[in-house]
Amino acid sequence: MNKTENQILVIFGASGDLTARKLVPALFNLYVAEQLPDNFVVLGASRSDMTDTQFRNRVVLESSYLKEKIKDKDESYIKDFANKFFYEDLGGSYDTDYSRLRTRVEDLKNKYNTSGNIIYYLSTPPTLYETIAQRLADAGMSTQNNGWKRLVVEKPFGYSLDTAIELNKGLQQFFKEHQIYRIDHYLGKETVQNLLVTRFANSIFEPLWNRNYIHHVEITNAEEVGVEKRGGYYDKSGALRDMFQNHLLQIVSLVVMEPPISDAPEDIRDEKVKALKSLRIMKDDQTLYDNTIRAQYTKSIIDGNEVKGYREEDGVDENSTTETYAAIKFFVDNWRWKDTPFYVRTAKRMPTKVTEVVIHFKTPHHQIFKDSGVHDKDNKLIIRIQPDEGILVKFGVKVPGQGFKVERANLDFYYSNLVETHVMDAYERLLLDAMQGDATLYSRADEVEAAWEFVDPILKYWEDGKDVRMYGYAAGVWGPENADELIEGIGEWRNPGPNLTDDPGFCVIC
Ligand code: BG6
Repeated sequence: MNKTENQILVIFGASGDLTARKLVPALFNLYVAEQLPDNFVVLGASRSDMTDTQFRNRVVLESSYLKEKIKDKDESYIKDFANKFFYEDLGGSYDTDYSRLRTRVEDLKNKYNTSGNIIYYLSTPPTLYETIAQRLADAGMSTQNNGWKRLVVEKPFGYSLDTAIELNKGLQQFFKEHQIYRIDHYLGKETVQNLLVTRFANSIFEPLWNRNYIHHVEITNAEEVGVEKRGGYYDKSGALRDMFQNHLLQIVSLVVMEPPISDAPEDIRDEKVKALKSLRIMKDDQTLYDNTIRAQYTKSIIDGNEVKGYREEDGVDENSTTETYAAIKFFVDNWRWKDTPFYVRTAKRMPTKVTEVVIHFKTPHHQIFKDSGVHDKDNKLIIRIQPDEGILVKFGVKVPGQGFKVERANLDFYYSNLVETHVMDAYERLLLDAMQGDATLYSRADEVEAAWEFVDPILKYWEDGKDVRMYGYAAGVWGPENADELIEGIGEWRNPGPNLTDDPGFCVIC
């Protein structure tokens, strides 16, 4: 276990939902696992008027997000945790003089002996990132001559390539790149990290991991929920900005990348950037028309309950052209992946919640078992990111009996079988990494920009391109029917169920 140095975590936007819902439960898990530093305090800062006690009640003692976790624990144990939390009211605006905040941080540092190490976690709207960074710098709170200072920022990181570049430049005026940690919570998921291990800690997959053996790659991210209470935000964002530009392109980069020289953060991040830079950017309207599909969910009945269509959701414009479904086909212009199609889709209001990567291998070059019916079934490697996390290999086996009838069988591994292992939640892992100064799972400036570079032309085309279509799909189905047409040759997506082995595999029981 790496040692975590003493430090203060300052959370801007601490009265917001993310702090109570994600950050504090993650900190509690670290507390239980004895991973917090010996001397550690959290200072919440935002524009609400609250005392330390009110803040502790809100995010710890009376928090519905912690209720289950703390119910069987000793009162004094919980109190000790709650007592690590403090609050500072910034007044009416984040754009203010931080000298009072600085004094508070100094006092806490001296009283709790946390040394000068500080993480500033910005859980605020992105429009405030640069302002807060500047105000911190103005108050002399970004200098590293008395302990390290790190700045953690949440997504969305930019709204387009231009705004992302601007934001990067803005932050880098006040914090050095190595001090900036851009969170992408998908990178905190064990199963996403396991992509690296599957590829580079085994010798059985990597030799096949290229255009010679892989027919195509399919990535699905489906959510059962709609936009819920986030209509206002989502309508200005859409599936491509909300999920694809960040989470899904991170997964793509891990599938596409070349082996890094080592597991050092910069070695891994260098390869991921190279991977993102090798995605073929779609430039002309015809290519964008042929390779991208967007759609919106419409009203329907699911399990007897009426479900609103996207345009009827609160905060959504009734004529909105924001996509809740995005499916993109693209190619990767490098030696390894030449001419191998990648299909990636993400959507809300699908039949189930699931994220998986499916590697479809080519069928054997020479078919011996011609009449076996197997030639139209490829070998697949399914990497299940969530739920029912695990890995499944589909391969051909002989059906007992005369002749050579071949069926597909499943070889599977489930994370849940590793009973003694505590699988860290994404925020828990990412927070601990930031506390220890490990940036492997955080996006670097050039990585974010490379992702936007690929996404920007699609967004522009969808905004005002020629013949752009917006399809509808009834809430609760697998998107618009014509999305299947995107899949060259095979003509359909793998529509997974909630369980990894959801399809009727072949087995011999006795
Ligand atoms: C967030 C998006 O980044 O990821 C949400 O803003 C989405 O719209 C969420 O619901 C999905 O995360 P997960 O971990 O539940 O797949």
